[in-house]
Amino acid sequence: MSELVSYTNDDGIGIITIDNPPVNASSQPVRQALAAILASMKQAGDVKAVLLRCAGRTFMAGADIREFDGADIPLPDPNEIHALLESLPVPAIAVLHGTVLGGGLELALACHYRVALRSTRLGMPEVTLGLLPGAGGTQRLPRLIGVSEALDMIATGKAVSADRALRMGLLDDVFDADLDAQALAFARLAAHKDVAARVLRYRSFDLEQGEALVLEKWLERLPPEDKGGRGSRACVLAIKMAAELPFDEGLEFERRSFLKCKASTESKALRHAFFSEREASRIPNLPDDLMLRPMTSVGIVGAGTMGVGIAMSFANAGMPVILQDLSAETLARATEAIRTTYGAAVDKGRISAQDAESRRGLVRTATDDMQLAQCDLIIEAAFESLGIKQRIFERLGKIAKPGAILASNTSSLDVNKLADASGRPADVLGMHFFSPANIMRLLEVVRADLTAPDVLATVMRLAKRIGKVPVVSGVCFGFIGNRMLEGYLREAEFLILEGASPAFIDEALEDFGMAMGPCRMIDMAGVDVAAKVVIEQKKANILPEDPTYRVVVQALHDAGRFGQKTACGYYRYEGRKPVEDTDVTPIFVELARVHGIQRRTDITAREVVQRCLYPLIAEGYRILEEGIAYRPGDIDVVWLSGYGFPAYRGGPMFYAQTLGEAELAGRIASYAETRGNLFGYWTVPESLQRARR
Ligand code: 3HC
Repeated sequence: MSELVSYTNDDGIGIITIDNPPVNASSQPVRQALAAILASMKQAGDVKAVLLRCAGRTFMAGADIREFDGADIPLPDPNEIHALLESLPVPAIAVLHGTVLGGGLELALACHYRVALRSTRLGMPEVTLGLLPGAGGTQRLPRLIGVSEALDMIATGKAVSADRALRMGLLDDVFDADLDAQALAFARLAAHKDVAARVLRYRSFDLEQGEALVLEKWLERLPPEDKGGRGSRACVLAIKMAAELPFDEGLEFERRSFLKCKASTESKALRHAFFSEREASRIPNLPDDLMLRPMTSVGIVGAGTMGVGIAMSFANAGMPVILQDLSAETLARATEAIRTTYGAAVDKGRISAQDAESRRGLVRTATDDMQLAQCDLIIEAAFESLGIKQRIFERLGKIAKPGAILASNTSSLDVNKLADASGRPADVLGMHFFSPANIMRLLEVVRADLTAPDVLATVMRLAKRIGKVPVVSGVCFGFIGNRMLEGYLREAEFLILEGASPAFIDEALEDFGMAMGPCRMIDMAGVDVAAKVVIEQKKANILPEDPTYRVVVQALHDAGRFGQKTACGYYRYEGRKPVEDTDVTPIFVELARVHGIQRRTDITAREVVQRCLYPLIAEGYRILEEGIAYRPGDIDVVWLSGYGFPAYRGGPMFYAQTLGEAELAGRIASYAETRGNLFGYWTVPESLQRARR
């Protein structure tokens, strides 16, 4: 017996316990120990039933994803373990709690019965890693719950509640408490029952009328293999094979398909994203004994759109928050906006009316800033002006209780200056929420020069508590995300001046996989907002001396074309639908004429993608060189969770690896030759240059 898997006997009920913290992943040593115990139980002896349970916070949450990086997955194969379970002469009962995912659910499916705590969630999230379930999930689940429900679970990766699983027939019983005792009682009742009928591999399974069509419809809806659809397509095909092939052949098909997917760039990228997101919240070189600051009350200064979104982020996580604004009118509008947002969530069935009520109740408003004095954290979300924010920090430095953390939601200003103004710089950092703040998961946590380590660590922990994906950035204009965005937007504008239409540019980048092309994105965020960034760059004296730099957004701004909010920007809008607008072309033609830019008709989608993405990636390398980001993966997390970079490409830095760094450096250098490099737009970053040598 190993420490990872133990076996006891409770008066004739064998109890196998897996104990592999934190999530009982099925690593090779776990599989080996489990296989050994099950093999020794072939003859049941005095055992009348077997319980398979896990210690700690969850039943097995899947295979150990770390093992997928090697060419082969070390033996024993989970299918061997499942076969051993299915051949037991007495009932095997999976006892479930926590998050029963992937290989964990597959293990449970190989048991004869499944019981669970009511709070359990069950799912097959492999597709979110570019995979299909690889240990019988695609063959057993449809046999148990039917094709439609199995497709919903396997091809979307969405988990279901225990109650729903019970209704589907995935579970045999659900308990509110005392899982172990209840499971033991269940086992005594099940003991000696005939198990053959409960073995899913023996269950015959054909497609019912209409189910073949459902499968076809799924395949039609899914993206192509090279556009992030490899894993999901493999899921659907394997379920189809469950109906068409005998069980063992179906299992073989699934295994081959799993190994192929595992080796794909899509899966590698998605696995990279999974681990990078977790790694991003780790701050290097923190002392082991670092104490975090208490965090029970949060105040927000400024009840505009951002302040309201931030307040709801806390309320959604059950944390009370005080929203402060000098204007009672603004506060009234904020209260109304919160009411409307939660009302809409109730209407859409996302939350219950009771939840909406309790969340609303967690947001208190105040005009008097002294109400913030006892807060553990105060987030400033005022108008984006250095002067205004400096005054607020000066005031917060005086009124906040000692030890309180002071944060700014600035997206571009120098957090060191705000820290200075507060008179207590160790307590200050940036918390750059993305709009809408109650929805967007990304949070850039900006480490100023004097931010205390416990302040940084406390805010990282808090961010996770409210469901955000926090990434640390050093101080620089635009931090990680917006700084990299700059080259991307710059090139998109140059391409417009050279003759590409906004729709052509957007389509090229959306075809690459971006959730939204740059022109539609600016129209949505507001051309005025985007133009303001350029104005701020001007003020900060960091604009290149290029007279053609970002002239398009400024001209649209001057023309009052603010985007969706004025029903015209790069496009004109019919409701929210963008429509190409010939009225805007003369603005581009005139700008090109004024700046002596030759318009051409030979711009390809490939050129659009390369010219927009390479400067973005190059800036990522500089951000690493300067120590603004800790790790390449952090940059990827920013772009995946905040800017709609396609997850199946792993983020810009991972994508650079797939291109090959030497190749990328060469391509950037060749753009420097063909386009000229007067303003340094095509300078190969030093760290990338090294890859060329
Ligand atoms: N393999 C390896 N490590 C895993 C893991 C897994 N399947 N699941 C979680 N971990 C690690 C995380 O990396 C993290 O490690 P760290 O502390 O060193 O950063 C630690 O466990 C805790 O994870 P989280 O921080 O994510 O903890 P949460 O409580 O927020 O979430 C969870 C728990 C819901 C289980 C979440 O971790 C999760 O979704 N895990 C992935 C589940 C999954 O995808 N399972 C399918 C795997 S593929 C498979 O099973 C193939 C099979 O069909 C053959």
